[in-house]
Amino acid sequence: MPGPRYDLPDMARNFLSVDDLSASELAELLELSEKVKTSPSDYAQRLAGLSVAMIFEKPSTRTRVSFEVAIAEVGAHPLALSSSELQLGRGETIEDTGRVLSRYVDAIVLRTFGQERLEALARTATVPVVNALSDFEHPCQCLADLLTINEKKGRLARLTVAYVGDGNNVAHSLLLGGAKAGMHLRVATPFGYEPIPQVIRRAEEIGKDTGGSAMITHDPEQAVTGADVLYTDVWASMGQEEEATERTLVFQPYRLDEFAVERAAKDAIVMHCLPAHRGQEITDGVIDGPQSVVWDQAENRLHTQKALLLWLLREV
Ligand code: CP
Ligand code: NVA
Repeated sequence: MPGPRYDLPDMARNFLSVDDLSASELAELLELSEKVKTSPSDYAQRLAGLSVAMIFEKPSTRTRVSFEVAIAEVGAHPLALSSSELQLGRGETIEDTGRVLSRYVDAIVLRTFGQERLEALARTATVPVVNALSDFEHPCQCLADLLTINEKKGRLARLTVAYVGDGNNVAHSLLLGGAKAGMHLRVATPFGYEPIPQVIRRAEEIGKDTGGSAMITHDPEQAVTGADVLYTDVWASMGQEEEATERTLVFQPYRLDEFAVERAAKDAIVMHCLPAHRGQEITDGVIDGPQSVVWDQAENRLHTQKALLLWLLREV
């Protein structure tokens, strides 16, 4: 087994942001994901005897189930915990939760609101902490997205990805991960719903090294024209339920419909992290159409998360 790969071997390596990975580490992780997907039995007992706790402060279908199955399929024991069942729901701090869980488990996966909660957990946990979605990023989703694009297109670098909709957590991770993979990102949002400037600047900076780029526009047609990948996500994310009605009005032009697919490259693929709000950000015809890869994309959460845990726990 190779030794620790980090400069500070006594520190737990976390995955709070796509930006926690260098471009070469991201490529390495995607390569491992392919191996794990092709030969799952080779990895079946790699994490035998370990336990992984997952804490959900927001609902989840894909992340919860794919992590639970992924953990079990590499031989470890998953604990899926909702914050309402924990003392966390009664006021115990995330820091103290991190201190205590680190005495029992080998990694902690957290879905939460503010990114600062993940950072607080990572400061006190002595085991790796994984961001299973925050308001700021959804890095595990990005791994599956990139694996899927690579499978369908045979490469990542120089492809154009058009993301149409809200400049949210999924858009942030796609900007950072896509730029690391040398892709050209075009993000079309309504005024006032752009990705945060810090993420845009960081994606541009990454692109200078990798040949990737990030372009933000308010014109969805400009974004989708000739694109190799079309991507969208819900208009109102978890925690924004009160804004849903207003957002439904503002976001009307920012959907993946038959017109958008028509404007994209002939062999463009259509992606959505799911859950989809059919008839809002994506039409039935597009999500169920021949160019949609959303179910393969959802499956790839399983394979990339297995690879992520193997990599974080240094069992590869
Ligand atoms: N894409 C995704 O993270 O889905 P869930 O919210 O169901 O986990
Ligand atoms: N942006 C969405 C992603 C769901 C997987 C949300 O945060 O609700």
